[in-house]
Amino acid sequence: MSGVAQGGRDDSEVKALLPEDAAVRLQSLQLAQGRATLVLDAGGLDAAARAQLERTVRLALAGSVEEVRIAMTADKAAAAAPVPTGPRILAVGSGKGGVGKSTLSANLAVALARMGRRVGLVDADIYGPSQARLLGTEGQRATAHDGKLVPVESAWGVPALSMAHLSAAGQAIAWRGPKISGALLQLVDAHWDGAEVLVIDLPPGTGDVQLTMLQRCKPAGAVIVSTPQDLALIDAARAVELFAKGGVPVLGVVENMAGYACPHCGETSDPFGCGGAESAAADMGVPFLGRIPLDIAIRREGDAGTPTAAGTGPRADAFAALARQVAAWLDETA
Ligand SMILES: Nc1ncnc2c1ncn2[C@@H]1O[C@H](COP(=O)(O)OP(=O)(O)OP(=O)(O)O)[C@@H](O)[C@H]1O
Ligand SMILES: [Mg+2]
Repeated sequence: MSGVAQGGRDDSEVKALLPEDAAVRLQSLQLAQGRATLVLDAGGLDAAARAQLERTVRLALAGSVEEVRIAMTADKAAAAAPVPTGPRILAVGSGKGGVGKSTLSANLAVALARMGRRVGLVDADIYGPSQARLLGTEGQRATAHDGKLVPVESAWGVPALSMAHLSAAGQAIAWRGPKISGALLQLVDAHWDGAEVLVIDLPPGTGDVQLTMLQRCKPAGAVIVSTPQDLALIDAARAVELFAKGGVPVLGVVENMAGYACPHCGETSDPFGCGGAESAAADMGVPFLGRIPLDIAIRREGDAGTPTAAGTGPRADAFAALARQVAAWLDETA
């Protein structure tokens, strides 16, 4: 649509004001209410050259129109190139709360990092974040760069992002867009440079965050955590179903808090039953990924921000065994 700018100028007059290098890149020009909207082909230009082009245009039109709006189309070659592959997303979920998703996510990520995998951790529990404590990164603040968050580094080779890592300014970035999903997407779509996998610690249940995760983040796979009790297993089945329906492959079910080793007598007992998750996984037709023992030291180490998986001994081995299976899946699906 043609328009008339300030001083009665029309499209062709405004075009004539453009320097040669901008004129050849002009794809469209619209004038309306003193505002010029230009679409320029920025093919082959790097960021500095694009900025220079924009400055040139603004300078050329200054005084002739009230406002200049510039949109640059991407380089055609770049647009045709495959989207750079970001990290694959591995969601850690459960139906029921308090079964150890956060503990397991942190330890799985640390165990993967120990195997040399480049892994990041997202705490998707927007209202009840726990990863800053589990990784010993409380008090650290994520920065932002180019409008995206930069994860905090932990001592365990696992960069992480959690609402607990955001200052007031960071929170403002995270809360852009629709509340929960906006916050989640800002944590996921961050500078995870070089990470091959992002472990996502989900809040309990099958609500908004889970749906956003399924619809917008397209996880490559999901691990479901359950304790051995029947009730937790019924909820685990619901979580398996949610992911399966969403087209997300379920790597399998992990039984957490399995078998209690009494610190006094050394005897192992099963306060929540035993083997429930394994048979439930078989019933659901998904793999069983193993057991993590109920051990007071796992809780203590989590509270202290020194993840169990960073240590040695049977407790750490349980997480390493899980990490090996996840690593095998990463290689198969690469
Ligand atoms: N294997 C374990 N042995 C002992 N304590 C554990 C074990 N796993 C988790 N815990 C403890 O159980 C509590 C709940 O664990 P965690 O916060 O990881 O669960 P969650 O599923 O993430 O909970 P929420 O649903 O609230 O997010 C924590 O105090 C944690 O330290
Ligand atoms: Mg949690």
